[in-house]
Amino acid sequence: MADAYIIDAVRTPRGRGKKGKGSLTGIHPQELLAQTLQELGRRTQIDAADVDDVVVGVVSQVGEQGSNIARNAVLAADWPLHVGGVSLNRYCGSGLQAVNFAAMGVMSGAQELVVGGGVESMSRVPMNSDGGEGDGMNPHLRRKHPQVPQGISADLIATMEGFSREELDAFALRSQRRAAEAQRECRFSRSLFAVRDPETGAVALEKDEFLRPETTMEALAGLPAAFEAAGAHAAGPNGETLDQIALARFPREGGIRHLHTAGNSSGIVDGAAAVLLASEEYVRAHGLRPRARIRSMAVFAEDPVIMLTAPAETARKALRKAGMQPADVDLWEINEAFAAVPLQTIRRLGIDPERVNVNGGAIALGHPLGATGAIILGTALDELERRGLATALVTLCIAGGQGVATVIERI
Ligand SMILES: CC(C)(COP(=O)(O)OP(=O)(O)OC[C@H]1O[C@@H](n2cnc3c(N)ncnc32)[C@H](O)[C@@H]1OP(=O)(O)O)[C@@H](O)C(=O)NCCC(=O)NCCS
Repeated sequence: MADAYIIDAVRTPRGRGKKGKGSLTGIHPQELLAQTLQELGRRTQIDAADVDDVVVGVVSQVGEQGSNIARNAVLAADWPLHVGGVSLNRYCGSGLQAVNFAAMGVMSGAQELVVGGGVESMSRVPMNSDGGEGDGMNPHLRRKHPQVPQGISADLIATMEGFSREELDAFALRSQRRAAEAQRECRFSRSLFAVRDPETGAVALEKDEFLRPETTMEALAGLPAAFEAAGAHAAGPNGETLDQIALARFPREGGIRHLHTAGNSSGIVDGAAAVLLASEEYVRAHGLRPRARIRSMAVFAEDPVIMLTAPAETARKALRKAGMQPADVDLWEINEAFAAVPLQTIRRLGIDPERVNVNGGAIALGHPLGATGAIILGTALDELERRGLATALVTLCIAGGQGVATVIERI
């Protein structure tokens, strides 16, 4: 199989995803993505006319994020009319899946130059806007697999792993501290560009704005459980609560301990990212200097009710394909959907926490659903370069019990 080279990766800053509170909430998601494509073109100096396709992850594909945002963003970016765009949904893994599909196009020999990326304006198109309720409201599927909201799954994982609230909060505090230090030291600046108001041209946001560097363990400990009320909601056909529905599959004496809060869950934000992938022939013919190559990829799925447990096995699958062991990975990006997810993945893989999310993660910086995978791939690549290291593994937990992973290797 041919190699897929990563030429560059760019992203917007992540803006707080609440109307009236965030700096990107006034900007249409197509524009966020269009500016990201323009920036990728500017930095790499490629001729956009050569782009075979633009593959974009976006979860809530309705309203402003409907109507194939990938193609519309290509047009909004003033890229040549003949460049196509496809929008995909693998929930929280969408951005990384888009990069993987772009890489597959190149590796198969079918394409030469492909953009993979993602976008989500969670302020303008809130989570769950597609109305599918996770299972498309198919009563037959619901009887087989009664999927519950992700926060309840995360609390179930914490319960089953025996994580304490203090452990989850300590992980969140570490995410905040690492992100604050990374921002202070401008470690994100290689990927970041300033988003502009498309009407006025004024800079709307130039750095991530969700993080709370002043976070303390005491403040985190004082936050209420975020998913306890949802767990008590009677949603089953016979009035069972969502907690009872989850516990029917994973019985635990004492029930689910609701330990996730606004402080140790991923933040609601707006953002976009794009990664340029090219074939060896294209690289040679155009004198490009690739930063890394895609070494392997994997998708894997586990139980859809506990839902968020797949990253460890997905990572193992990707590593097997690369002929590697967990210990061979220099840096890990394990998406911080909820603190229990990276903690469980670290435990299952037996990896060193000092190599995981070294610049913080979605708890501190936010998780713009469709974009995050492409964002953290760029973060990992920037940090490999900064530290002079070789390989990184990026993985995310995904609704429906899935996981996605990519191993990258610097050239
Ligand atoms: C957990 C969740 C429901 C919390 O939502 P929220 O209450 O709107 O969260 P906010 O970020 O606005 O925080 C609420 C309050 O908690 C407090 N808080 C949050 N983080 C804090 C921290 N690190 N330190 C101190 N206080 C904090 C603040 O008082 C904050 O209010 P403020 O913004 O007015 O100061 C939401 O973040 C969520 O659903 N996250 C998961 C998203 C998700 O499911 N993604 C897909 C997963 S794969």
